[in-house]
Amino acid sequence: MCGIVGMVGKRDVASFLLDGLRRLEYRGYDSAGIATVVGGKIERRRAEGKLDALAGRLKDQPLPGHIGIGHTRWATHGKPTETNAHPHATDLAAVVHNGIIENYRELRDELKAKGCVFTSETDTEVIAHLVSDYLRQKMTPQQALSASLKRMRGAFAIGVIFAGREDLLIAARRGSPLALGYGDGEMYLGSDALALAPQTNRIAYLEEDDWAEIYADKIIVHDSTDKIVERNIMTTNLSGAMIGKGEYRHFMLKEIFEQPTVIGYTLAQLASPDDALTMPDLPFDWKTVPRLTIVACGTASYAGVVGKYWFEQLAKLPVEIDIASEFRYREAPMPEGGVTVVVSQSGETADTLAALNYAKAQGQKILSIVNVPQSSIARASDAVIPTLAGPEIGVASTTAFTTQLTVMLCLALAAAEARKTLPAARIKEILKALHEVPSHINAILRDENRLEELAQHFSEATDVLYLGRGLLYPIAMEGALKLKEISYIHAEGYPAGEMKHGPIALVDENLPAVFLAPSDALYEKTISNVQEVAARNGKVVFVSDKDGLAHVGAKTFATIEVPAADPVVAPLLYVIPLQLLAYHTAIAKGTDVDQPRNLAKSVTVE
Ligand code: G6P
Repeated sequence: MCGIVGMVGKRDVASFLLDGLRRLEYRGYDSAGIATVVGGKIERRRAEGKLDALAGRLKDQPLPGHIGIGHTRWATHGKPTETNAHPHATDLAAVVHNGIIENYRELRDELKAKGCVFTSETDTEVIAHLVSDYLRQKMTPQQALSASLKRMRGAFAIGVIFAGREDLLIAARRGSPLALGYGDGEMYLGSDALALAPQTNRIAYLEEDDWAEIYADKIIVHDSTDKIVERNIMTTNLSGAMIGKGEYRHFMLKEIFEQPTVIGYTLAQLASPDDALTMPDLPFDWKTVPRLTIVACGTASYAGVVGKYWFEQLAKLPVEIDIASEFRYREAPMPEGGVTVVVSQSGETADTLAALNYAKAQGQKILSIVNVPQSSIARASDAVIPTLAGPEIGVASTTAFTTQLTVMLCLALAAAEARKTLPAARIKEILKALHEVPSHINAILRDENRLEELAQHFSEATDVLYLGRGLLYPIAMEGALKLKEISYIHAEGYPAGEMKHGPIALVDENLPAVFLAPSDALYEKTISNVQEVAARNGKVVFVSDKDGLAHVGAKTFATIEVPAADPVVAPLLYVIPLQLLAYHTAIAKGTDVDQPRNLAKSVTVE
């Protein structure tokens, strides 16, 4: 979380910094700021709130300077006020920081005792004072940075500029990603390659504990022992134009509508048009894997739960799934020869990365499903299957989820094929159903207006229940998560059969209860739960296929039709109306769909 940019060149950098921050705003948007060196002195502009506030400030008080750093913040230590906004600075150095300095209290007390005056509540400010303290001891900026890094504990990515040095920006990383951009006579720094895409596609990533001296014409990278090292410069295929909203009002809506296309791309790398698997070779044998462990956070973890059902039902492979923040500290014993599947859109989620490292230390092979192929999680894995969702900008995940499901189902089918738990004809049949998913999703998207009408009712609710069984249980949780993330309405996703053990107490004439009930083996069971809610005057919203809608037999408040399909692919279809429902409920409530309060897209802190 938090986005960092930097640039050293021969032109004014303020507009580059602002544009770069716009591309990173998905990482946090509580406050923003930039700093440059002008006439040897550090100058800053900072503003509370979204980037537009900073842009307004810069209009009134432009900031010249050929070197600079910028930051968009997701608050950890200290409220999102202007004084807590980055860059933090002394008269000698200014710092932008993503992550947490765990020993900041100890460092702050030490520096205060030396007379340093702190003006913010942040952990970041200690970096500015620590570096400045070393500079006062007549160290060079490089020595001061290296000495400071040895004192700092935690996970961080930082960018530092220095008074009197219009030629030198220093960056460092430990645990948080940082990309270096190579231009023509100017060099850049960014939390990800997307931030730098309009300027350059020549990118190198700092490795763990690296730090770099960035000049207009060269970059010198050092490892943790200060030795000069080479880091591979790669050419990315990102383009500056890739993150436009197009004709859509919000990124989230654009992304919802992109799903048929990106599912198609993702599937094309894993299966042939004639419904045969074309999976890459994996560094383990499905036949001998004793157990699979799946770890992830947020929406990605719900893709993992769907995966568990698929692997168990189709490949008869036992699966353990856990939320990464729990798994990393649970000290779970792991079986010899086990495989851990790590699911993440960003590939940078701190808890997920830590869970990966735990599994690795337990001798597990790591297979990751990530959307950012150069991410930390991808790089730490034994094998990677990318989701081809493209840059997902809306904070509420949509394209990443359905492409994660696509990969997960293909993996489960590959396991079933290797373990001979399904006849070849059934595998072909499921792949055919998967190939038909994009056109079914298009049919659901054409029904957007009806969902928009229903959303008007949802916007008046204070609580909503989402209920499903089997493969639809995780989709109920994902539907609830989407609604609460962007409309701020309390919502719970529950296994329909478990409803009578608690959530049924919430049912009254105001409570919408959304039932996900394809015509599958569990349909009748779910219908019993529908009856229980209807009998208590709950507002039943029934989501099913044509046949399922015809047989519901209970009073419904509204129905949503989803095309009939093989029950195995139902998760990919039933989530779509729930995304649209959440989107239009948020619109009806007037909330900020793409940047909902308190959330961030990439969570690189614990
Ligand atoms: C944040 C985002 C969610 C996302 C989760 C995991 O909470 O707001 O949309 O599902 O992180 O992120 P990852 O990048 O690991 O999938």
